[in-house]
Amino acid sequence: MSHHDERTFVMVKPDGVQRGLIGEIVSRFEQRGLKLVGAKFMQIDEELAHEHYGEHEGKPFFEGLVEFITSGPVFAMVWEGADATHQVRNMVGETDPAESPPGTIRGDFGLDLGHNVIHASAHDDEGANEREIDLFFDSEELVDWGLDAATWIYEDEDH
Ligand code: RTP
Ligand code: MG
Repeated sequence: MSHHDERTFVMVKPDGVQRGLIGEIVSRFEQRGLKLVGAKFMQIDEELAHEHYGEHEGKPFFEGLVEFITSGPVFAMVWEGADATHQVRNMVGETDPAESPPGTIRGDFGLDLGHNVIHASAHDDEGANEREIDLFFDSEELVDWGLDAATWIYEDEDH
């Protein structure tokens, strides 16, 4: 089942936490058939924010982005499944909620580029998923377990 085990990093941002959207967002990934292998309710400090968003350092929105992401608790998660990084990004929508179609998380719950509810690893940035998982989670915080429903989610998974 090695092709069902891609892992990706996802995080409900401070606006999503404050708006009570953790449960709704977790439900969507569960219902899609992805497997939760790690989760942590936490507050991001300056140093972690700079590392996580390092690719945007120097851009005009960077300081505001760091201030926002450190402004309250976040809910960090690792989800596993076939093509997980790409599939999760499709479920998240575009960076700007105003450009995100209904049915996507940002398209259903956001209106503002700076408050876009959720982060997910970019699928067009090779290795971003593994880098972000390592940044937020120690290996012993990730749980290896068998999702029994996988036999119904994937045609080629043995019953
Ligand atoms: P994220 O990393 O937070 O999941 O978002 P993303 O991949 O869809 O977008 P990215 O380009 O990585 O940008 C990170 C966050 O910075 C804010 N942003 N503001 N004012 C602007 O032009 C601008 N561009 C990006 C967004 O809040 C975005 O989520
Ligand atoms: Mg990004």
